Amino acid sequence: MKNKVSIIGAGMTGSTTAHWLAERELADLVLVDIVEGMPQGKSLDLRQAMPVIGSDVAITGTNDYEATAGSDIVVITAGLPRKPGMSRDDLLTANADIVRKAAEETVKRSPDAIFVVLTNPLDVMTYLTMKVTKLPPERVVGQAGILDSARMRAFVAMELKVSVENIQCYVLGGHGDEMVPLTRHSNVAGTPLRECLAPDRLEAIVNRTRKGGGEIVSLLKTGSAYYAPAIAITQMVKAILMDKHLIVPASAYLRGEYGLKDLFFGVPVQLGRSGVEKIIEYKLDESEQSALQKSADAVRQTQDALLHLVKI
Ligand SMILES: NC(=O)c1ccc[n+]([C@@H]2O[C@H](COP(=O)([O-])OP(=O)(O)OC[C@H]3O[C@@H](n4cnc5c(N)ncnc54)[C@H](O)[C@@H]3O)[C@@H](O)[C@H]2O)c1
Repeated sequence: MKNKVSIIGAGMTGSTTAHWLAERELADLVLVDIVEGMPQGKSLDLRQAMPVIGSDVAITGTNDYEATAGSDIVVITAGLPRKPGMSRDDLLTANADIVRKAAEETVKRSPDAIFVVLTNPLDVMTYLTMKVTKLPPERVVGQAGILDSARMRAFVAMELKVSVENIQCYVLGGHGDEMVPLTRHSNVAGTPLRECLAPDRLEAIVNRTRKGGGEIVSLLKTGSAYYAPAIAITQMVKAILMDKHLIVPASAYLRGEYGLKDLFFGVPVQLGRSGVEKIIEYKLDESEQSALQKSADAVRQTQDALLHLVKI
């Protein structure tokens, strides 16, 4: 039996995720969007690319949720992206209804699926998905940390002129400007990052990482980043389908870990076939823990705003 992945929202991130997944021959794919013809056209185009790369996956585009039935993974990317000057939290009102509908429609057709959420504001939309689907927290996870960490890795590689493969960086916290790049845990082929970069260069990289999404939004003028977010989702989908027990930063439901409760937040998680198998707790020093707390306060504020907005 082939795996089946449904992607809700066939816009820039949704269709690019389909592209990366199809290229890796990981699963049959269903793309759902409200715009008529668009998911059908994009999936037909993608399907016609498969003979060239020899990938035997079925790709279906539709406006009808019926085609998603029996999915192993549901990826939610439906919703508005930021415009220049907007914060991710500014998307809350518009995206809450979209994500709620996507979660309701998919969970009844795929009650055994694992849900991977991308829509912003990310941590709160992942929380909404868990509430609406009523799934156990292990089966709902948000994508943010792989992307934020990859941005930091790319900036370090550009600065040091070292292969990206040698650079490990870990960005935790909420997917907003208060995210927490952990410089003490990051390294270049085993050498701590703090020994490879002058303090001012490291600080510049940390700041650029925090604003990495906004930098792209202001360059693009319409829409936000999609190549890197989509490959980040692809890594999570692969880790789940292939039961890799892969440790990556992602938004997971906390029940006391890092001193935080009842919110989705970016922490290192172990991903496998059952979803979030484990949350890893780093030993943090005082300043790291207080930066995480500040980031959690920002997520909690948006979560409270959500709870005023929708009944869940
Ligand atoms: N978590 C992250 O790291 C991250 C990274 C990039 C983008 N995002 C977020 O992901 C979301 C999507 O970004 P994008 O660049 O793909 O935007 P996009 O505008 O290109 O695509 C969004 C798609 O959602 C569709 N849509 C809207 N309402 C729908 C509904 N009710 N049902 C089904 N489809 C619906 C739209 O028609 C559109 O095609 C945004 O909220 C963006 O902020 C998050």
